[in-house]
Amino acid sequence: MFSYDSKINDFMIDALDIQVTKVERSKIHDVDFNNLPFGKYFTDHMLEADYANGEWERAEIKPFQPMLLEPSLAVLHYGQAIFEVIKAYRSSNGNAYIFRPYDNFKRFNISADRMQMPAVPEEIFIEGMRRLIEVDQSWIPKKEDYSLYIRPLMFATDTAIGVKPSETYKFLILLSPTGPYYAAPMRIYVEEKYTRAAPGGVGFAKNAGNYGGSLKAATDAKERGYDQVLWTDAFEHKWLQEVGTMNVFFIFGNKAVTPSLEEGTILEGVTRDSAITVLKEMGLTVEERKINIDEVIEGYKNGSLTELFGTGTAATISPIKELRYKDFEMHFDTAKWKISPTLKKNLTDIREGRKEDKYGWLVKV
Ligand code: COI
Repeated sequence: MFSYDSKINDFMIDALDIQVTKVERSKIHDVDFNNLPFGKYFTDHMLEADYANGEWERAEIKPFQPMLLEPSLAVLHYGQAIFEVIKAYRSSNGNAYIFRPYDNFKRFNISADRMQMPAVPEEIFIEGMRRLIEVDQSWIPKKEDYSLYIRPLMFATDTAIGVKPSETYKFLILLSPTGPYYAAPMRIYVEEKYTRAAPGGVGFAKNAGNYGGSLKAATDAKERGYDQVLWTDAFEHKWLQEVGTMNVFFIFGNKAVTPSLEEGTILEGVTRDSAITVLKEMGLTVEERKINIDEVIEGYKNGSLTELFGTGTAATISPIKELRYKDFEMHFDTAKWKISPTLKKNLTDIREGRKEDKYGWLVKV
């Protein structure tokens, strides 16, 4: 994982030549900050930058607005589109902080490389994001578990439909004040029909198609009364990968196990990495390795599997109260859990400034 120490985080790139056009009237008063469904509302402004002739043109902050697109736009046909997920918080000291944006910046450009798209420079991604949040900082929610969700994205903008990497791209950053993603513990079933990712594929990249491709399985899960699926490998449908759009952790007493990244089928989650660090600090042993459903079932039967949860930017730490494999149901009393609630609290306390930011995870707006 990419990491910066807090001294580096204090350093701000000041060379970004960026034009800022502000809205005439803010729409902030039209939004009920006590009721913020995930991803429904967007702030007054957005950042936009275009890539052409082998370079990024000047980035611009402008009023959030619709875009006029050609029907022949390359992304609409062949899906060269990637995105990131980051959050900003209002700290107890009154300042606004972005959580680990350099890690998302690094991952964004790894996704770009896999999808044959150009890298976005740090001054546009990080400094552009910081400047945009500065402009819209009154939109950062103050309530616990609420945050300003940051959505950088890039897509192909050539207006020709030959199958080849586009020569032009658009990069945008949108901001959305948001509440919790999953309000309650999840019911999950182990997916054996559909596959999210296979070795050599794009499972490690945050490309739009991975999410589009997951919707059929998610819809089937909902029809069967579950919130999401636990993805398994493409060959045996036994080796566990991710839960819905999140990384997954299993707690066996004082040991945490999470699927390893080597095969390239799993997203290298920033919350996953933060959870590993904080779990170790809490005294747990953390194993990043292959784990299959038989080990989970055995742990359930002999009582050694005590907790299981998803980790992601949107949902942070999301407990799983029921897991179903074929006809076998595993039920968990999440109210009795100790480790995942402590992990969630520790992470929230770091993000919101109540606990020391030892690892330099917070970048001041
Ligand atoms: C995340 O939280 O990491 C996600 O990717 C979820 C988002 C696609 C809603």
